[in-house]
Amino acid sequence: TTRATVIGVGHYLPDRIVENAEFEKTLDTSDEWIRARSGIERRHFAAEGQGTSDLATRAARAALKDAGVAPDELDAIILATSTADLTFPSAATMVQAELGMTKGYAFDVQAVCAGFIYALANANALIVSGQARRVLVIGAETFSRIMDWTDRSTCVLFGDGAGALVLEATDGTGSNEDRGILSTDLNSDGRFRDILYVDGGVSTQSTGHLRMQGKEVFRHAVEKLASTATTALNKIGMTADQLDWVVPHQANIRIIQGTAKKLGLPMERVVVTVQDHGNTSAASIPLALSVGKAKGQIREGDVLVTEAIGGGLAWGSVVLRW
Ligand code: ACO
Repeated sequence: TTRATVIGVGHYLPDRIVENAEFEKTLDTSDEWIRARSGIERRHFAAEGQGTSDLATRAARAALKDAGVAPDELDAIILATSTADLTFPSAATMVQAELGMTKGYAFDVQAVCAGFIYALANANALIVSGQARRVLVIGAETFSRIMDWTDRSTCVLFGDGAGALVLEATDGTGSNEDRGILSTDLNSDGRFRDILYVDGGVSTQSTGHLRMQGKEVFRHAVEKLASTATTALNKIGMTADQLDWVVPHQANIRIIQGTAKKLGLPMERVVVTVQDHGNTSAASIPLALSVGKAKGQIREGDVLVTEAIGGGLAWGSVVLRW
């Protein structure tokens, strides 16, 4: 059977690092509060004029280098983002042009923090159905552009960054036996729009700012994340104890811990980067995969589940053998 297998990974974080203490100058907040409630210690912010497609292109180049694949060997680019440079064209086609790729096709996927899971599941579908052999899947965001800097309950939680994977069709034989995406599970429920949204957009003629009822989002997160991960595992007759790693969307350490506990897994088997990146929305999972691999945590042959939830609500998970 044809599988979509990861053959390269990479990431990019903008140079500017902002420590929690910096927010103490302008807001009634503290490093202690932010650490205790979210696990976040610092985050990166894009430079003025640096757009999402720039972050995405840098992460893409790193992933392509890791894979040993040239841009013209790709069939497609899928870019998960809620913060594209322009209303159109898609940020994905901007990356395509930057990479010098003049064939194939590129498009954005918008599912907020679950965007990378949606993009991965769609890349998998393109590969399994024979519509593409090699797909570059990117998550890239500049959430700093949609922060309300006077709202301490949101602006301390988010960061900018990008991560990317190169997926290739493998036939499940030889050294690639059993590697690749094994299962996917996607969900959304638009009734929950009001607990996490941006109060602006194209048809309202404003960019808007992120608005969140943190406690409400938290309430849904642990339950829905554990549920989608279990569903994806059950589809292939697996249980959580067979996992080498959980690579969660990095929004809040307490959500990450709660989900691991519900899955019955110790934190030693969870890749955590939220302390250094904050919540980078669709970029957080490929960032965590890239950092987790670089740190020697994720190795070839490991079985991992990635899961995410965000605005929509939209949530889902992917099980894969690295
Ligand atoms: N500094 C100091 N105090 C603060 C801050 C801050 N930055 N922000 C809020 N507070 C105050 C509140 O005003 C509140 O004060 P009050 O009791 O006088 O009203 C108090 O701290 C407690 O606030 P809570 O909201 O109850 O704190 P909680 O423990 O729920 O933590 C948090 C808030 C971190 C937002 C948490 O609810 C959370 O992480 N929720 C999930 C959010 C999330 O993960 N969103 C992303 C998922 S989807 C996506 O990634 C887009």
